[in-house]
Amino acid sequence: MNEKLHFTPEEMRKMGYQVVDRIVDHLCQLPDKPVTRNSSPAQLEKALGESLPEQGISFEKIMQQLDEVVFSQIMHLDHPRFFAFVPGPSNYIGTLATFLASGLNVFAGTWLEASGPAQVERVTVDWIARLFGLPKTAGGLFVSGGSMANLTALAVARQVKLGGPSERATVYFSDQTHSSVERALKILGFRQEQIRRIPSDEAFRLSAPELEVQIQKDRSQGKQPFCVIANAGTTNTGAVDPLETLVKICNREGLWLHADGAYGAPAILSDQGRKLLKGIESVDSLTIDPHKWLFQPYDTGCILVRDSQHLKMTFHILPEYLRDVEGKETEVNFCDYGIELTRSFRALRLWMSFKMFGIESFRRAVSHGLEMAETAEKTLRRSLYWDVVSPAQLGVVTFRFAPDSMHEEMIDKVQQQIVNRMIREGYAMVSTTELKGRTVLRLCTINPRTTKEDIQNTIQKMEGIGREIYGI
Ligand SMILES: Cc1ncc(COP(=O)(O)O)c(C=O)c1O
Repeated sequence: MNEKLHFTPEEMRKMGYQVVDRIVDHLCQLPDKPVTRNSSPAQLEKALGESLPEQGISFEKIMQQLDEVVFSQIMHLDHPRFFAFVPGPSNYIGTLATFLASGLNVFAGTWLEASGPAQVERVTVDWIARLFGLPKTAGGLFVSGGSMANLTALAVARQVKLGGPSERATVYFSDQTHSSVERALKILGFRQEQIRRIPSDEAFRLSAPELEVQIQKDRSQGKQPFCVIANAGTTNTGAVDPLETLVKICNREGLWLHADGAYGAPAILSDQGRKLLKGIESVDSLTIDPHKWLFQPYDTGCILVRDSQHLKMTFHILPEYLRDVEGKETEVNFCDYGIELTRSFRALRLWMSFKMFGIESFRRAVSHGLEMAETAEKTLRRSLYWDVVSPAQLGVVTFRFAPDSMHEEMIDKVQQQIVNRMIREGYAMVSTTELKGRTVLRLCTINPRTTKEDIQNTIQKMEGIGREIYGI
């Protein structure tokens, strides 16, 4: 029994060192471990399906169980050969920041309760806003991820442009837009009839002419167009919507322009990305997701808004039991800028990482991701067995195993079979997606620890599997 839920300093240190050792071993041994791991619900139910323990057991025993049946059963999204979906190539400083913020149990909701952390968040948000060329009026906050950032941004857009829910309001985005946008709209009460999914062009970018036609059509039918959501790097292909054109259209039409940069926005740190993302400095709101391409642990998203007062205007409510925290105008209460009142000190992860590595290291790390996708594309183009469907773009390349003699239906099937075999074998993790009705393979290469050999060997393995399946 330990009714104070507390330990001696020696006990705490001993347990803490065990945790640090686990993490360091994980990070150092990762490249030699399999990427994937599969167990059935029945196996795990057997291993973990116990009743709520009445008495405690030792820390060592818990760690042993974690090693054997919990952490041994995770796919490593931070593995240098994890190329599926969007990898999570976190970094150790971000991990330590999470540990510190949680150990000190920082309440990052109000200035009164954590002024130092509030200032760190303010500074970090400001650094990011500057990276994207947003004006001094811009502000934002850290949230749990890209989905929450998109939800926050769309709530602001609705408040500023419509003043609240509107039956007539319509919203526009391409068919390549991440599902979190549609989910956010659903949460905010928009119906399917209010959503305009504009077909993307050949390069998987939002078609601006089609957008303009749709806006005019809606206006003529008495609808109220109010918001366009642009992709600053789609999840499928890394395509960037024509941001500069969209800025012009939205300015002319008086629409809110939100950019979902959850995947691709950090490419601004590279020369190539800066060119592709031109126009991003003029959006009304921008989602970025540091737990993807800014190398932070999960639960680190960020929303930036061109005029920070718009966040406050949307979310600020002052109940009587919080009157004591309402400070001076210059003191930021981040709970007034978003959905969460009690919020953890997420900003510390990026602040410590930027300070420890310097932005120059981040520039190289991001550029490396772009280069790895180019290596993949070159490797694929050298072989007769592959068709490149979308070229290396913001760290993503899509392609198909498609020998000349193979017919369309078979090609679709083979891609899935290749992925299934890769998951079983564990050397690398790749995923499929669908582009214009065709199943394709996709590599996302943003891990700064991925090597050229990782890419080449992965493609070679997939090619071997494809040839074996097809018998060539
Ligand atoms: C473009 C884009 N937007 C939004 C999201 C959702 O982000 P999160 O998973 O952090 O909620 C993702 C996730 O992959 C994404 O790629």
